[in-house]
Amino acid sequence: MNEWSQALRGVKRDDTPVSVPGNRGLMIEEPLLFEQDAPGRSGVDLPPPAPFEERLGGLRRKGPIGLPGLSEPQVVRHFTRLSQKNYAIDTGIYPLGSCTMKHNPRLNEKLARLPGFADIHPLQPVSTVQGALKLIDLLAGWLKTLTGMAAVAMSPAAGAHGELCGLMCIRAALEARGEKRKRVLVADSAHGTNPASAVACGFTVEAVPANAAGRVDLQALKSRLGDDVAAFMLTNPNTCGLFENEILEIAAAVHAAGAFLYCDGANFNAIVGRVRPADLGVDCMHINLHKTFSTPHGGGGPGSGPVVLSEALAPFAPLPWIVHDEGGFTLLERAEGKAAFSYGRLKGNHGQMGMFVRALAYMMSHGADGLRQVSSDAVLNANYLRACLQDLLTASFPGPTMHEVLFDDRFLKGTGVTTLDFAKALIDEGYHPMTMYFPLVVHGALLFEPTETESKEELDRFIDAVRRLAERAKAGAAEEFTAAPRFTPRRRLDETEAARRPILRARLCAHLPE
Ligand SMILES: Cc1ncc(COP(=O)(O)O)c(C=O)c1O
Repeated sequence: MNEWSQALRGVKRDDTPVSVPGNRGLMIEEPLLFEQDAPGRSGVDLPPPAPFEERLGGLRRKGPIGLPGLSEPQVVRHFTRLSQKNYAIDTGIYPLGSCTMKHNPRLNEKLARLPGFADIHPLQPVSTVQGALKLIDLLAGWLKTLTGMAAVAMSPAAGAHGELCGLMCIRAALEARGEKRKRVLVADSAHGTNPASAVACGFTVEAVPANAAGRVDLQALKSRLGDDVAAFMLTNPNTCGLFENEILEIAAAVHAAGAFLYCDGANFNAIVGRVRPADLGVDCMHINLHKTFSTPHGGGGPGSGPVVLSEALAPFAPLPWIVHDEGGFTLLERAEGKAAFSYGRLKGNHGQMGMFVRALAYMMSHGADGLRQVSSDAVLNANYLRACLQDLLTASFPGPTMHEVLFDDRFLKGTGVTTLDFAKALIDEGYHPMTMYFPLVVHGALLFEPTETESKEELDRFIDAVRRLAERAKAGAAEEFTAAPRFTPRRRLDETEAARRPILRARLCAHLPE
């Protein structure tokens, strides 16, 4: 039996998971560029450099730099093959709950590549970038309108960066009141970035438990509030896919304690165009443009997480501020004049221009009615998924749900299959798995977010695959699950080993410097 057929049968060789080396079915095993090295081979033919005066003071490198010798076709094929191994939203449904992996419209991409936006430099004189500043200002205006908030800080580079930005505004506002509050309360179902951002900002963190309905326990919140609490961080809709229906009481209690209500706006896509966070008593909220407004996610960035701020927090927003006067757009770059209370810069310049162009293109192509439709369709799709799966999977909380649906591992009890096995088996069915083991408020979470950009046909195919797997698990086919994934170029990794003892450096070429 060759390695490929062993893999298909889930047979282990020497008790180690079988991987599938070699080329199979147009899937080409891809060596590292350094493994393809042919010393002396080159894709370019340059003339020797003209003689020049040595000015390195004896610091010139003694040996070769250690780059592999490669031809142009080798390099092109290497990167093209790698890109084909990458599962992406352009490849199929990507139902990662809380991540909002929606289609990135091609119109956005086209507009972001216009040279007037793509080729400008952040330090160009403002007179030469009036159009770009106008675009940022226009996007800021839409964000303020959609949230009902007074101001927006555009520079944060991601949701988590926005959390830091918002908490820094809160800290500056408290300091301006002569207060040094130390505690930040965080809802139990929050994303891990919430407590991490609070700690990065110098606060201590205390969790607020969820009630039996998966929402913030109001009494538990009230018992933790006090005059040393700076803020309460809440996600709404929360990561169980539920709207926090006591949000007005929550906001009133937080404000009565002199604290601020921070809303994690990662799930704004469920309510955009329908609910304005300002009307819920929110003081600041980050908006992940790469979620709600369809800009691409990618390896932790480049993202964009503008933060909308209430009147009370607006004066503390980070620099630079874009202002519009008779002379056109200008930048306030120092904490003086109108920006006297700003806490300074969060980041080098104005933010992620390419993301701003894409997000504004998305907003303008949808219009106000289209954005309302986006949230309705996102909620409809999640509820469709829920309705089609709830007889086989165990929904954690009663429905209906908002834009994502949370199941837990009770349906797998006694089957020998874990949430992780289930996710790996979904890969063999040709689907990217849902989010696993998050939020932490339920055991063995499976969080699905289909987004509004999936058609009914695509959802039905996905639902069929999930149902088939749930039935197989219940029918006692645990071995199929523990052996999964079987059809991927690599089998299941030892995730503990990979986390504890990662090998981060390859030493392959004899001539590579140590
Ligand atoms: C609920 C929630 N909050 C915050 C974040 C952090 O956002 P970002 O990845 O843009 O830093 C995420 C990311 O998935 C999230 O789902």
